[in-house]
Parts: sequence; C-alpha cells; structure tokens
Amino acid sequence: MARISEQSVEQVRNAADIVDVVSGYVQLKRKGRNFFGLCPFHSEKTGSFSVNEQKQIFHCFGCGVGGGVINFIMQIEKLEFVEAVQFLADRFNIQLDITGGGRPRELISQLRDIHEFAVRHFQANLKTPQGKGVLKYFEERGLSHKTISEFRLGYSQEGWSNLLDLMRAEKFTAEAMSQSGLFISGDKGYFDRFRGRIMFPLQNTQGKIVGFAGRIFKGDDPAKYVNSPETPLYHKSRILYGLWASKPYIREADPVIVVEGYMDFLQLFQAGIHNLVAVSGTAFTDGHARELRKYSRKIALAYDGDKAGISAAVRAGYVLLRNGLNPSIVEMPGDVDPDDWVKQAGPEPILEAVEKAVDLLRFQYARAAGDKSDPAFNAGFVKTVLQELSLFEDQILRELYVKRLAEITGLKENTLFRSLEDLLRRREQRMPQVNDKVKTETLLKADSPARLKLEDELLQLCFSENHEIRKLIYDHLKKEWFASQSSRRIFDAVFIHLPSAGTPDVNTIFDALDDDADRRRLSALLMEIDKISMTVVVVKDCLIRLEKKYIDAQLDAKRQQLKSVTSGTVEFSQLLTEMDLLQRMKKNVGKLYS
Ligand code: CTP
Ligand code: MN
Repeated sequence: MARISEQSVEQVRNAADIVDVVSGYVQLKRKGRNFFGLCPFHSEKTGSFSVNEQKQIFHCFGCGVGGGVINFIMQIEKLEFVEAVQFLADRFNIQLDITGGGRPRELISQLRDIHEFAVRHFQANLKTPQGKGVLKYFEERGLSHKTISEFRLGYSQEGWSNLLDLMRAEKFTAEAMSQSGLFISGDKGYFDRFRGRIMFPLQNTQGKIVGFAGRIFKGDDPAKYVNSPETPLYHKSRILYGLWASKPYIREADPVIVVEGYMDFLQLFQAGIHNLVAVSGTAFTDGHARELRKYSRKIALAYDGDKAGISAAVRAGYVLLRNGLNPSIVEMPGDVDPDDWVKQAGPEPILEAVEKAVDLLRFQYARAAGDKSDPAFNAGFVKTVLQELSLFEDQILRELYVKRLAEITGLKENTLFRSLEDLLRRREQRMPQVNDKVKTETLLKADSPARLKLEDELLQLCFSENHEIRKLIYDHLKKEWFASQSSRRIFDAVFIHLPSAGTPDVNTIFDALDDDADRRRLSALLMEIDKISMTVVVVKDCLIRLEKKYIDAQLDAKRQQLKSVTSGTVEFSQLLTEMDLLQRMKKNVGKLYS
C-alpha cells in the first residue's frame, strides 16, 4: 500500500483547518469554545456534533463519532487513510511525498491498468460467438443489460492464453503481470487463471477493479468459482462485493443487507433493493465487519434458507457482534436464496422480511433443534453461546449479551455470568502466560463502570499540559493495568509522546488508532477533558488506585486457582506465597510516589 511521509501528513493537518473542512459539510455555529451543528453521521434535530478549533478535533455527543480532520474526511467521504490525506492535499494544493511502502507505486498503477484491461477484454468477449451463449444465460437468469454493463460482467474464453497473449502485447512489466493474480505459473510458463468462466469483477469502494471471481459456465473444471488470489490490490477478507455501487444508498438508519452470492446481490440490486452488499468467495471476516461499521451498525443477514445458509448466517452474526455491530437475520421462506425469492415474489416481501429480521440470539435459539422446555436443551444452548461470547474482547458487550441470553432462555443471569467466568478462566489457563502473570483482562469485574471511569481519567491525564503529570504516567503506568483493550490501545498510541516537552498531538494519536471505536472514545474523552482536575495529586491517586485494582484482579485470579488445587501440594503453597507477595505489593503501592 502506498505510504505518505509523516511530514506530508503533518503538512496536510496544518493546512486543513478542521472548522474549515467540516464547514463544507455541516453548518457550524460557534457556542462558547466549540462549534456546533447537526451531525452528518446520524440523523438528529439537535446539534450534538461539535468541533473544537483549538484541539482540531470533532466529536458527536449523540452518536459518538469523533477524531481529527483526516478521520472526518475518511468517514464522510468513506475513504481509507491514504486516500483521505490525498483528498485533503488536493484541496489545499499540497504536493505529497508518497512512497509505495517498499513497493514502487508504479506497480500498483500497473496492476490497476492490468485489471481495467482485463475487464474490458472479458466484457468484449460477450460479443464473440462463445460469449453470446453467456449473454443468453444472463437473460435466462433475468439480468438486465443495464445490470450487466453497470457491474461490468463478462466472460473469459476457453483456451489457455487468450488474455495472456493480448496482455503481452501491452507494455506491462513481467513483475506486474505475475503479481496480478490473473495468470498461473506452470511447468511451461504462465497461462490464464480464468478460462471459460462468467466473470464478476470485484471492485473496491472507489469502483476500481481489484480482482475477479469466475463462475463456471460450460467448461469441465469442477470448481464452481475461481477467484483472484490475494494481490497487492485485492484483500479478500476486506472486500465486499457491490459496496462501491450501494454506498451512496446506505443510510445509517437502515440495515445493510448482506447476501452470500454475486447473483443474489445483482438480482436484489436490480430489483431496487440498494442497501446491500455480498461477501465474496470467503466466510464473513472481522475485516468485513470493520468495513461495514463505517457505514451502518445495523446489519441484516439474508443468507440462503438451507441448513448451510443458516449456520453461515449465525457464524457471520457472531463476527458482527464481537465487532460491536448489531446483526439480525432475515428469515427466508424455506430453502430458497434471495436470488430465487426476488424473482418469484419481487422486492416487497424481502423488504418486509428485512424489516422483521430477527435478533441473532433469538434466531439461533428458535432454529436450534430440541425441546425448549427441557433444561438440558437450554443448558446446551447456553454453553454454545457462551463459548462465542467468551471470544469477545469488550467486556461490556459480553455482559450485554449474557443478559440477553438470560432473557431468552429464562436462566438466571448470575448463573450465566459464573459459567462465562469459568470459560474465560479455562481459556486463560490454556494460554501461555508471560512471567506467570495472570492475565486479568478477560476476567469479568463487578466494578467495571468505576474502573472504566478510572481508566478514562488516566487517559485524559495523558493529554495534560503539565509535563510532570505526563512524566509520572510515563514512568509508572503499565499497559497491563488497564482492563479494557481499548484503553490499552489508546495508551499504546500516546505512550511514546508522554515524555516530550509539549502535550501529545491529538491528531497524531487519532491517526495511530486503527479502531473506529477507539477514536470515538478518545474524542469523547478529549471533549470532556476540562471537566477533570489535572493536578499531580490527582494523577498519583489515579495511578495508585489503578495499580491496586490490577493487583486485586490478580489476587482474585489466584484465589480462584487455589480452589482447584489440593491443599498441601507444592502448587498450593506456591500460590499462597504468590498471593502473599501480591498483598505486600499492594500495601506498598502508595510509597512509590512519596
Ligand atoms: N462461492 C465460492 N466458491 C464456490 C461456491 C460458492 O466462492 N465453490 C461463493 C461465491 O461468492 C458465491 C457464493 O459463495 O457467489 C454463493 O454460492 P452459490 O449459492 O453456490 O452460488 P451463486 O453465486 O448463487 O451461483 P448460482 O446461483 O449461479 O448457482
Ligand atoms: Mn444462487
């Protein structure tokens, strides 16, 4: 991927005043120290969206979005970081210093050209005698000419080197051709990867072709689909088919419908259902979830109604859940896929079903085979779900869904929390432990809101103008003390800036954070920063409290371990010694600072 030098990014940040840039999208009014306006990321009547000119950040008190000027452009224009910087650079006439990250930029642009060349070739093939059959097939399946040309469907002819021969006559380098993924290297040299297949071009969010999926047409290859491999352009765990076309139609208020197949996508899109994407050639990944999260939190999974479809939908649902999205499942009428359904019934019943889509946990419960009044059934169900929940990093999310699970099954919350803790502990024990330090992260803590508040406060203190405060944090605070992964990531990002003479630059920190949720949290914290008192006494107190909590959590964990160890054994006395040590450490925590 292309890289932009830090200096260039800095130049862009300096030139692009956030109030200026945001004003291009939102009508801002000054109120006190901040500017306010209607949030462009969620619909609202009161202006909760605020911009702080001095800190050069934005934050919405309604929906929580936030970040610096580059993040604003990334979100509003739906661009990747590098693209957003380029966007702003163009606007402010800044010449960027771009390198290909070790890879010549040349290669990327050649790869783009190669794909564009290939798609034109595949499209033109539809006019050949072989291709006429494909057009007829499209017609039989009900695809309109508009759909075919809009999505640039095509055909790769039979033969070993149709594309290869044409491409060789162009001025592409051998390196670029080999990296394009369109050719396979065999004993006798390269040959075409796609032969005798219906070609679905895969487009990035800018609409540029980055790869292909080829569906079997009449050839004798047993594979139904052949896909481009990972290339410098194509990352299959991130790309969502059709997003480039549907993104203007996706509104935060509506769910994004996710279907399994290219045909499902094309048929629904053609029938006027536009808030839609398809996964392409792979199971639903965390990368897909993060991509969708830029557009909407609500996702309706419209997978095939057969057994395989149902279980794939549930799996995708959990990927979405653990990434903080809100998945529901569209109930299909029997074994059909969305493609058949829309052809039989038109778009209305599908839209209705999307409207009525069922919450993931409820869907899974309803579809699980067994007698719902049988306690053994419920216990088994709960176990499966808790396994999934134990993989969530975010403990608040975990708690939320444990509560929901209790509601659905009628079992007691407390019982469920206890089983979850057991699961987490068992997983923990299986994990290699660094310095025998018990990882406290995944243990559920009863005092989590208070603890989060403390973590918040310490993160805010990292942005104090007082050097002594920042230095205290730098010298003492250990990342592991934070229970929340998000706190750890934010701390990681700000850590190296703590000992510098000036306050850490918030925009540099925002850019270092990959996770949208982290940026939201940080922007909220920065907006409220004036509310906390930034004194040396306060920071010491916070550090002491957090370290004590950290030690407490370790003590708790040891106490639990003790229960499963026979008294009198070496392990038992070892644990007691460790606990004793921890107790003493806890007593001494305060002394470090006097
Ligand atoms: N898929 C794949 N490789 C396969 C089968 C399926 O990558 N061997 C992916 C494709 O993304 C495909 C989706 O899974 O679009 C759904 O598969 P399926 O329902 O079998 O194919 P359709 O695309 O619906 O094809 P058709 O309706 O033309 O049979
Ligand atoms: Mn199908």
